[in-house]
Amino acid sequence: MADPAATPDSPVEAAAARLAAASRILVLSGAGISAESGIPTFRGRGGWWRNEDPSRLATPEAFRADPAHVWEWYQYRRQLVRDAVPNAAHRAVAGWASDGREVLVDTQNVDDLHERAGSGAVVHIHGSIWRVRCFRCDAPAREDRTVPFETLPPTCDACGGPLRPDVVWFGETLPAAPFRAMEGFLAGGVDLALVVGTEATFGYIRALALAAREAGAALVEVNPSPTTLSDEVDIRIEGAAGSVLPALTDGVSNTD
Ligand code: OAD
Repeated sequence: MADPAATPDSPVEAAAARLAAASRILVLSGAGISAESGIPTFRGRGGWWRNEDPSRLATPEAFRADPAHVWEWYQYRRQLVRDAVPNAAHRAVAGWASDGREVLVDTQNVDDLHERAGSGAVVHIHGSIWRVRCFRCDAPAREDRTVPFETLPPTCDACGGPLRPDVVWFGETLPAAPFRAMEGFLAGGVDLALVVGTEATFGYIRALALAAREAGAALVEVNPSPTTLSDEVDIRIEGAAGSVLPALTDGVSNTD
């Protein structure tokens, strides 16, 4: 008869044990965590970049050439995000913090579903779809939740120039604040880093994940498909975030 003590933990059980023991947790999330809320990813099946050319929608050059066209896409996405509700994965992450742990969410997503699920410490590496800033002058970026705008592009109160979404486009510099927040968090020690729903296409996402591991975290990936990070994580959980993350909270494997 098999000795149950000799049976290796399933990836979910192993990660759940890490979660149960963790007091400081980093969550690196990408489009996949919002997929079960009905928001398309970028590169997967049905993803934006399967049918759209990023150079026509997500670059300063595209905006200069046709701001209304770029805004039509963002306006559609603002509608999707407004109408979406956080799913079980966002709620599980928020629950970890309310259990008294310190949790920093570092997301590539421009939606606000982590915040709406109740997560307090959320940094947006690629900006926010709910913020706008002037494409022409230095007026500070501000929140604007108008959906839909009467005319596209909306214009700047200060100079009349076109407003743009306060998101990071291809070829642009990343905002420094999220990285400072992340460095500050890692400096305080981290027990568990979960990489959820991202291809980790960009070098800086891989670097953040590996920096967390370097700082002492067990590195766990949650994704239905392998990614560029999969070979480097301590625990890889193959599954959808909306099933896996609540299962980690429960400490049981219910992802089969
Ligand atoms: P991608 O679209 O590149 O990858 C989405 C990932 O989510 C894939 O690895 C999927 O396998 C996974 N996935 C899909 N459904 C899932 C689910 N239910 N649970 C867990 N994982 C699931 O999205 P990102 O990696 O976030 O940047 O893309 C990063 C950046 O590329 C975006 O922020 C955007 C894009 O170009 C800019 O616009 C600057």
